Amino acid sequence: MCGIIGYIGNRNAAPILMSGLKRLEYRGYDSAGIALVSGETVRVHKAAGKLTRLEAVLPKRPGGKLGIGHTRWATHGAPTDANAHPHLSPDGSIAVAHNGIVENAPALRTRLRAEGAEFASDTDTEVIVHLIARTDEQPLEQRVRDALAHVRGTYGIAVVDAARPDCIVIARKGSPVIIGIGDREMFVASDIAALVRHTRQVVHLDDGEIAVVDARGFRTMTMDAQPISKSPATVEWEDDAYERDGHAHYMYKEILDQREAIERTLGGRVDRRFHTAHLGGLNLDASELLEVKRVKLLGCGSAHYAGITGAHLIESLARIPASAEPAAEFRYRNPVIERDTLYVAVSQSGETIDTLMAVQEVRRCGGRVLGIVNVVGSSIAREADGGIYMHAGPEVAVASTKAYTCSLVALALLALQLGRSRDLSPERGRQFVEAMERLPADIAAALATEAHVKAVALRYAHCTSAFYIGRGPAFPIALEGAQKLKEISYIHAEAYPASELKHGPLALIEPGVPTVVALPHDALLDKSIASIEEVRARHGPVIAVTHPGDERIAERADAVIEVPRTEDMLNPVVMAIPLQLFAYHCALALGRHIDQPRNLAKSVTVE
Ligand code: F6R
Repeated sequence: MCGIIGYIGNRNAAPILMSGLKRLEYRGYDSAGIALVSGETVRVHKAAGKLTRLEAVLPKRPGGKLGIGHTRWATHGAPTDANAHPHLSPDGSIAVAHNGIVENAPALRTRLRAEGAEFASDTDTEVIVHLIARTDEQPLEQRVRDALAHVRGTYGIAVVDAARPDCIVIARKGSPVIIGIGDREMFVASDIAALVRHTRQVVHLDDGEIAVVDARGFRTMTMDAQPISKSPATVEWEDDAYERDGHAHYMYKEILDQREAIERTLGGRVDRRFHTAHLGGLNLDASELLEVKRVKLLGCGSAHYAGITGAHLIESLARIPASAEPAAEFRYRNPVIERDTLYVAVSQSGETIDTLMAVQEVRRCGGRVLGIVNVVGSSIAREADGGIYMHAGPEVAVASTKAYTCSLVALALLALQLGRSRDLSPERGRQFVEAMERLPADIAAALATEAHVKAVALRYAHCTSAFYIGRGPAFPIALEGAQKLKEISYIHAEAYPASELKHGPLALIEPGVPTVVALPHDALLDKSIASIEEVRARHGPVIAVTHPGDERIAERADAVIEVPRTEDMLNPVVMAIPLQLFAYHCALALGRHIDQPRNLAKSVTVE
């Protein structure tokens, strides 16, 4: 979704802003713009469409050593030139780039109109510019504070003022803004992706904070002008981690990266002596772990599906009742928050608004929340009481792959530690630890199925609809498989527990509709084979994702993809791989825009 970049220093701002916007492209956007301060004027250049359109409208040598830029994902108002950010005040002195939503924009517009304001766009953001521009006596930060006092909703904003060509003012509520510290130059951004090329020293603003950033430093304060001191953190990801490494798509690179990514998730966290996991970031001692009576997993989309597997893992290894719920459903249903329930928020970006709000709701009611998050220092990581970083490395493609499997591994580590702090025997713990340590090799073997998976994908890429089924722990495998296919290939795909097929969806099975069956060799195998029969009896093609060694499957399925067998509860990690590859090769065959599928954004920071 929307992205912000800002620069102040001795270099020409425009190329720095443009390369920052390029780095933010992966988030999804439909218009972009920059505002440059030079002399005592602000010049805004903006265009609907991709950055190449913005490049085309930029002057040959855009001046200015101070500026802000924005990629916009339309919410209020169509993706037009006029609605693109930054927005300029009527007198042309102040420009604002904004991420988030001003919920009371209509009321504010009416009020400002009554005072004589004329609006140049349909956006909610423009009210912020008008509110800031209303008064000019105070320092810019005071004007921004006064303006934001009227705003209900979420924002991460960057503001420049022609009369203050020595600073950028930023503020945050619900939408991230980060300061990047350079050598006599400073950066601001909504996402570290736009900063790591220049610096790895960053300062995260927290909600309700505002900062004045100049070329030599920054001052942070609360909305009541109370100074706050903040120290920089070092970003763990290098700039080149954001490269495609010669692959045609980030998604493909990220699929291939999963062996190493999972090694990083496991790194230093497996305890062979006590057959458990060491998760220092939980901030829970052994007796607090023992007090956990229930676990609730919260997340959105694929992160929610990871949570479903997490619930299976926790119930199976730790025998603690566990369930997963979409974070948005949870937060809006006035949930009962219990002291002895452990709430676990799963999020790659750590910025998904619904998950973040669910975390805030739990904490507001006194509950304890862990975050399983990929982006270090992200909002959810900062709000949670403790957690486990995935260490998957940057995930740029919109469709989650390595962060999904790494979150499963992080959840498996959590389940193991919870289990071993209860009655999971040392012997079962040892077996599970060994299986976890074999995962990177199992992933490599699953990746080696690619040529075969591609051939299967080419056979089915032109279907208009597909079903994915699985039983028990294999059901979330089906959910995530269907999710990947629909996101990037636009083939309609639905996932069902295999047992549900005959309660309705079977009516849709016919020769052109393949069913992908996740078929681990677990206690439910015979029942899953019976589900294949149900599909075959309706002449539906069957693609089985399974392990080697059961002739019955090859006899019944139209295509069989085999991955190594692991612990039952870890099969979702290994089986995710061929399903990702299947979706990828279907999308490739259909010529889809794989890394940035239509209508989707990488990080959903608005409701
Ligand atoms: C699917 C996908 C989304 C995300 C969801 C949550 O491939 O990427 O469903 O999983 O938007 O995002 P995070 O994990 O950043 O909270």
